[in-house]
Amino acid sequence: MVATYSGGFQYFKYGVPKYCALFLEHLLANGNIINLGSKPKSKFFKMPNMVFKVLNNPNIKIIFFILNTMEEEQKVRESYKKRLDRYKNYNIKEYLHYIDGYKLKTDYYFIQYIPNGLKNKIVLDIGPFVPFDAVYWASTVKEYHAIDLSQEVVDFGNQYIKKELQEDLVKKIKYQQANALNLPYQDNYFDVVYAFSTIDHVPGKERRDKIFSEIARVTKKRGFVIITLPNRLNFIYYYRNMRLQKKGKYPISLEIWYTPKELKKILIKNNLRPLLFKSSAGDNTRDVPVISDIYNMLVRKFGVRMGWLAQKY
Ligand SMILES: C[S@@+](CC[C@H](N)C(=O)[O-])C[C@H]1O[C@@H](n2cnc3c(N)ncnc32)[C@H](O)[C@@H]1O
Repeated sequence: MVATYSGGFQYFKYGVPKYCALFLEHLLANGNIINLGSKPKSKFFKMPNMVFKVLNNPNIKIIFFILNTMEEEQKVRESYKKRLDRYKNYNIKEYLHYIDGYKLKTDYYFIQYIPNGLKNKIVLDIGPFVPFDAVYWASTVKEYHAIDLSQEVVDFGNQYIKKELQEDLVKKIKYQQANALNLPYQDNYFDVVYAFSTIDHVPGKERRDKIFSEIARVTKKRGFVIITLPNRLNFIYYYRNMRLQKKGKYPISLEIWYTPKELKKILIKNNLRPLLFKSSAGDNTRDVPVISDIYNMLVRKFGVRMGWLAQKY
């Protein structure tokens, strides 16, 4: 059975992307031809039996799934390439808001709990986008490695590093293109591995699970891992975000939200012992001592960005 491409595939349950037909031809090449034509809706309804036969083939389901995730990943890659424009002339005020509201309360908060922070550590940063963190920590670390999905993002990042840092510090940073699904590093190499708000942009649960196991693989025994993700317990932001994603209006095309417990379980499954939880809710300054403490206690689970510091055992 051979299926030829039609734009109409998008109407099917598994939402097949354009290049699907090529795979179908290889998989089902025994003579019959299904041509779904260029007016998909009408032709689709003329031959439901054949279509269902094809769709119910388990191999096809797997292929649909793989192709879908490939297409979703491509969309994520494209959306970050587009986002680069904002950073070519970025407004430092906007970025300070992000640092103050999210990164200091989670990402950097966790780093300060690692004994001696990142001092003389070999660090891996998964999905830095514009490598603000690399520039910030370069003078402290021994080696700073980073990977991101698209070459354009990495090229821009490397230019940014050269612009911001002196040569001796630039040499410490190796920012290269790679997919976190297959980290291009040997086992047990890093003292600290972090993925700040990155794994949520990876389509496919199995693929995200693979990234967690890759992170555990490249971390040294007793090394530290920090994962931050958007928090599903922040119901308001979660539902707002889901609505935008469903309508196709969310600028990053895909963002998967986790609960703190879900993330904790995944870490434990990968031999990473969770040490400390923190979310972006709460008041780090404790300006009004007792009231701040009570407030922090009540809201601590619900911040829109949350994560764990964990240690490999
Ligand atoms: C929200 S940005 C994270 C920015 C930065 N880490 C921070 O703390 O602000 C997510 C980044 O993850 C990257 N990314 C998404 N999927 C990836 C994958 N499978 N492998 C490597 N990087 C990925 C994206 O290209 C993007 O640059």
